[in-house]
Amino acid sequence: MNPSPGFLAWHAYRKLVLVCSLLAAFAPALPAQELSHLPYVPTPQVVVDEMLNLATVTADDVVIDLGSGDGRIVITAAKRFRAKGLGVDIDGKLVALSTRNANAEKVEDRAEFAERDMFKTDISGASVLTLYVMPDFMPKLRAKILTELRPGARVVAHDYDMGEWHPDRMVTLTVPEKIEANGTDKAYLYLWIVPAAIGGTWRIDFDAEKSGEEITVAFSQYFQKIDAVAERMRRPLPIQNPTLTGATVTFSIALGTTQYQFSGRVDGAKIEGTATTSSGKGLLKWRGTRVAKGS
Ligand SMILES: C[S@@+](CC[C@H](N)C(=O)[O-])C[C@H]1O[C@@H](n2cnc3c(N)ncnc32)[C@H](O)[C@@H]1O
Repeated sequence: MNPSPGFLAWHAYRKLVLVCSLLAAFAPALPAQELSHLPYVPTPQVVVDEMLNLATVTADDVVIDLGSGDGRIVITAAKRFRAKGLGVDIDGKLVALSTRNANAEKVEDRAEFAERDMFKTDISGASVLTLYVMPDFMPKLRAKILTELRPGARVVAHDYDMGEWHPDRMVTLTVPEKIEANGTDKAYLYLWIVPAAIGGTWRIDFDAEKSGEEITVAFSQYFQKIDAVAERMRRPLPIQNPTLTGATVTFSIALGTTQYQFSGRVDGAKIEGTATTSSGKGLLKWRGTRVAKGS
């Protein structure tokens, strides 16, 4: 039986910690502050490129790399896509190196670096967040990401996943360069799109129609996965294919013999969107108003 990606990643992490401990043990001449207390292992450039492709980075993006090492992710995003970026690292020497690297690549106007603890870093401005951190950081970062990042922001991680929050996409690369530091030539890349909080009951109104017929949709949510039940005049209404991608929700409802395909943007306690109909009424504007919060 082949070992799972999670097992291989964990194995690679254990190896990485062992290598770092050995390095620390055999360098007694160095004062303590000279030794980074956390492992610095750079992401191979080919993996950096794929991480940014997976996040579909453009010049409109703000990329934040938590634990930015020598700055390569933020610098590559600035060079290849003209994206703005911020890298934070707890190790001041790596921050100084990143700043020199950004200057050498002439992207210092778009790529900034700061000596900071990632857990104390405000990430709310990021449209793309990149991570190559120790696996035990991931659950803590997951809570931070879901609280601080806006819906639709993309998160890309190298090698370690976020447990119950399954990725929207996963890519496996074969990278021989990883064997020495990681003990495997596999790189696992994960993409998540931060979902809006949609759980709860919503009243749906069409702008143009004052039919007085109350339609409600109750969404249940588990990260980006949603389910829905609908009612009209307190009677069950068939609802199909509810999906949530970032702040965009789609679903379809049959009202009589007409099928309505809804699409809308969730913004706090409101949804605004349009619906197309199988009877060719054209685009109908609709609004959703949250009337009860989900559990
Ligand atoms: C595995 S390296 C990744 C470097 C870079 N992101 C890359 O992919 O090439 C992890 C980095 O996280 C930094 N780090 C560890 N704990 C941190 C913390 N609490 N806050 C900020 N940086 C941290 C380390 O100094 C190290 O440079």
